[in-house]
Amino acid sequence: MNKILITGGAGFIGSHVVRLFVNKYPNINIYNLDKLTYAGNLMNLTDIEQKENYHFVKGDIVDAAFVNELFEKEQFDAVIHLAAESHVDRSIENPLDFVMTNIIGTVNLLNAAKKIWKPVLGATMTDKRFYHVSTDEVYGSLGETGMFTETTAYDPHSPYSASKASSDHFVRAYGDTYGLPVVISNCSNNYGPYHFPEKLIPLCINNIKNNKPLPIYGKGENVRDWLFVEDHARAIDVVFHSAKNNSTYNIGGHNEWKNIDVIRLLCKIMDKKLGHADGTSEQLITFVKDRAGHDLRYAIDSTKLQNELGWKPSLQFEEGLEKTVDWYLTNEEWLERVTSGAYQDYYNKQYAH
Ligand code: NAD
Ligand code: TYD
Repeated sequence: MNKILITGGAGFIGSHVVRLFVNKYPNINIYNLDKLTYAGNLMNLTDIEQKENYHFVKGDIVDAAFVNELFEKEQFDAVIHLAAESHVDRSIENPLDFVMTNIIGTVNLLNAAKKIWKPVLGATMTDKRFYHVSTDEVYGSLGETGMFTETTAYDPHSPYSASKASSDHFVRAYGDTYGLPVVISNCSNNYGPYHFPEKLIPLCINNIKNNKPLPIYGKGENVRDWLFVEDHARAIDVVFHSAKNNSTYNIGGHNEWKNIDVIRLLCKIMDKKLGHADGTSEQLITFVKDRAGHDLRYAIDSTKLQNELGWKPSLQFEEGLEKTVDWYLTNEEWLERVTSGAYQDYYNKQYAH
């Protein structure tokens, strides 16, 4: 493979995947296609932007004509599709954006790949790959026990998870109907560097720094299974290179935490790093109105990925969270530019001449 298109590469997870692929595969040209919505930040990639095998394309996957033209011109060998509207709270406010990007955008990419690769149903295509990066939220919500496996029935509750479930179904349908060489992975909640500070962990790091309240929805009893983002990027690399066509892999950390316990641990780490007395940051915890339709618990069983492809998470949560805090405290300029909105000028300064 000579050319891989990564969509959403200016976002949180996408930037880690782009960095990994650009550095690890210097002979493969990596194209990062991103619309640069509020969540897209080219400052996530300053360390690799000058590399010869890295190419940035600004564009919207909802624009079918643009997407088709790009695929015709570049003749990509593979797609790793991460571009999405990703925040559940925003999906509750404005579901249509999620339908457009997550469903229509995905179908536009599938059509464009089908057009240039010309798959034949029943014939195995080994030199092309359409890899769709998805979420465990498509499986719905768990009670006190159990875990999501690859065969758990889809049961999405939020407009975000409904749109991701729909895009997963379209990806499988293109595999089954046209023989497009597709692969899907469904991952649990990620955390780590370059996480946009509207999501729980970076929001609370930023708020602790600024002595602002830490908003916990409901009683903080909801459970998420947290995975360090670089472990997810490594898993994507493994699945991309080793999975069979039409297969699905769950990716997760075996690392379930109640939200309130995540924030208590974060407060402890922040107190230590900022030289505050233990217990200082916890005083900022504020219980607020619960999210509508808030899923109680997610937990991923990633046994299939571990047994078949040999991936496993590398970091314990305590270690990963401390590493994340260190990154945010060291990269104050990144955080300042994101919170002030200045990051949105970076494209004009660096690329648009
Ligand atoms: P993000 O919101 O940080 O980044 C999304 C990126 O997509 C941004 O750079 C944005 O500019 C781009 N984008 C949005 N709409 C676009 C459009 N119409 N055309 C082109 N680009 C567009 O998201 P993330 O947290 O990095 O998630 C990446 C992918 O991983 C998503 O598909 C998400 O569903 C999935 N995922 C996320 C998590 C998580 O915990 N964040 C967990 C599992 C799966
Ligand atoms: P989030 O980071 O939005 O990820 P997701 O909803 O995709 O799991 O939220 C993680 C958990 O934290 C989720 O249970 C909602 C909760 N939460 C809060 O309690 N307060 C907040 O301000 C945010 C953004 C999330």
